[in-house]
Amino acid sequence: MASPLKSVRGTRDILPPSSALWQHVEDSARRVFARYGFLEIRTPIFEATELFARGVGEETDIVSKEMFTWEDKARAQSEKSQSLTLRPENTAGVVRAYIEHQLERTGLLQKLYYIGPQFRRERPQKGRYRQFYQIGAEVLGPTTSGSESPVRDAEIITMLVDLLDEVGIKGWTLQINSIGTPKVRALYNKALQEALNRVVHTLCVDCQRRAIANPLRVFDCKVPADQPVIQHNLPNIHSFINDEVGHESFNHYDGVLKILKAVGVHFETNYRLVRGLDYYTKTVFEFTHGALGAQSALLGGGRYDGLSESLGGPRAPGIGFALGLDRFVMTLEDDPEFKLPASATITYGSPRVYIAPLSAAQDPDAAKLAHELRGQGIACHLGDGSFKMRKIFETAEKLNVQYVVIVGEDELSSGVLSVKDIITGEQRKIVRYALASSLK
Ligand code: HAM
Repeated sequence: MASPLKSVRGTRDILPPSSALWQHVEDSARRVFARYGFLEIRTPIFEATELFARGVGEETDIVSKEMFTWEDKARAQSEKSQSLTLRPENTAGVVRAYIEHQLERTGLLQKLYYIGPQFRRERPQKGRYRQFYQIGAEVLGPTTSGSESPVRDAEIITMLVDLLDEVGIKGWTLQINSIGTPKVRALYNKALQEALNRVVHTLCVDCQRRAIANPLRVFDCKVPADQPVIQHNLPNIHSFINDEVGHESFNHYDGVLKILKAVGVHFETNYRLVRGLDYYTKTVFEFTHGALGAQSALLGGGRYDGLSESLGGPRAPGIGFALGLDRFVMTLEDDPEFKLPASATITYGSPRVYIAPLSAAQDPDAAKLAHELRGQGIACHLGDGSFKMRKIFETAEKLNVQYVVIVGEDELSSGVLSVKDIITGEQRKIVRYALASSLK
């Protein structure tokens, strides 16, 4: 016999009942996004490799090591061969779409959200997959739309606090930092490079490369032996943000924190937080959760005021975030106190009703009854007449339904159906037209 095939390393199947939790998180997000005026965007799952190289940055771990990239050969003379990549994140795709569809012409802020799979060739472990799912949102627009305002940063973060609350995740921590404008960062990079010159020989080969090509990326290093060197020998970006060149960054950061305080959002400042993507400017933030272990980031985001221009578009400052759906669900599953809200159980849970024809002759009428009930909003399973009474009840129990509706010859001719409540053991006779309301 051929050996059975398995899902590919770093990918997995999401099965019921876990899938109900996924739907709960997705629907909670849609509800919260709607309250904040965000609309959905869907971008392609693969894009030109160049989009990520230019958007996310060549020296980032994502682009330098983790992308699923292939050469797509031309199939017709009118086509060109090109390098394509499964999206490792969605911000670059959204900004590409913003530019391509000239959304700046509306003159309004674009508030867009997405839900979907992303792909990174990382070493799989708990909470880290090669195909994983993100829910994210981006706000961007011309400067005249107010896209640079700290109000936007604080609004996104406040929305996330509401979202965590709506989903039912407790015990998170929010860390926030500013990595400044490109001007501040140029000065900081110089100081960083000087400091790195003194210690770089003690760091890993990746850091030695980063020290020259993109010193900020040294902070992404995960090699344990490098951590004390990075912690104790490198300058802090905030001394640059507090000086004269940095006043724009400082005022912006201060503005964000003031609003967060006014709204009552709890945060911690973390001067070492730089986030592993090159497009960030000014505000960066992460929400973490202790229950997640090593992969503790529930979500991350930040401002990217120059991304549109680096992709050949108009000036379109913006800010956004993406949350790890896999990690949200894992946090809920690990919380013994979490219960799916009743409304979610009704929407995504299994039906509570089982329609049981007693012989094949009643299959058409049972199917008609099931169709009627479903039309009246009652979810039900439909059996078939080959099942004997014992199997009907065994199946109903396995399906975890509460009611079994018996459809036999007598029931059909009298128009009175027998409904057995499996939990109480009680059996009732209910006239057919009253069935739907009695099952609700
Ligand atoms: P990111 O920090 O790379 O940011 O990813 C956001 C979240 O996606 C992480 O906090 C984590 O929860 C989840 N995640 C990332 N990689 C994996 C993985 N291999 N397995 C499971 N979950 C993962 C971004 O992607 C930015 N585009 C966020 C953003 C939007 N910034 C501005 N706008």
